[in-house]
Amino acid sequence: AYTAEPFVPDRGGLPALRRAAAECRGCPLHRDATQTVFGSGAAHARVMLVGEQPGDQEDRQGKPFVGPAGKLLDRALAEAGIDPGDAYVTNAVKHFKFTQAEPRKRRIHKAPSLREMTACGPWLAAELAVVEPELIVVLGATAGKALLGSSFRVTQVRGTVLEEEIHGRNERLVPTVHPSSVLRSDDREAAYQGLVSDLKVAARALG
Ligand code: URA
Ligand code: SF4
Repeated sequence: AYTAEPFVPDRGGLPALRRAAAECRGCPLHRDATQTVFGSGAAHARVMLVGEQPGDQEDRQGKPFVGPAGKLLDRALAEAGIDPGDAYVTNAVKHFKFTQAEPRKRRIHKAPSLREMTACGPWLAAELAVVEPELIVVLGATAGKALLGSSFRVTQVRGTVLEEEIHGRNERLVPTVHPSSVLRSDDREAAYQGLVSDLKVAARALG
């Protein structure tokens, strides 16, 4: 089975994890992507935000949530009263998965498979063990399935505080939609306000 497990060091904190993740060959996604996009933020951030996978910009720059979805997320976080400096951002899958009709054509995001999410899980588990966030914000269905299992439905649990055992730890989580879904929505303003209102639940849970 695909797994990142043999690549994950058991000591050394975030810098060691980031260096090791750059060399991960735990599933085939490393082959076509530019680089591993590891999480970023304070080592003891109070809140961890988990997205799906890096997008085109993230793949080029090597940092999570630096493209259009990330800009929207930063704005929504600020509006909800969560300081982005207080947050650690990462993804369920650390390599960009895409299709490309021809070389030099635009790269189109493809959803990671369950096998790829499972393969990449040890990195997320290691990040959780180091950062020990007080709260996890789950951004969309892929992150939800990666953390909470395949029965996760974002519409049923968004904007609520869940308590679940994740990778052997008791965690509090607030699920919401993925910021990219706001950008794709027919009613962007309503979708954006929905995201902000879910993030306010997270802000209150942080106290
Ligand atoms: N979408 C994600 O899920 N993660 C990113 O880092 C960027 C876009
Ligand atoms: Fe490793 Fe995850 Fe990249 Fe697959 S997607 S190669 S498991 S870092």
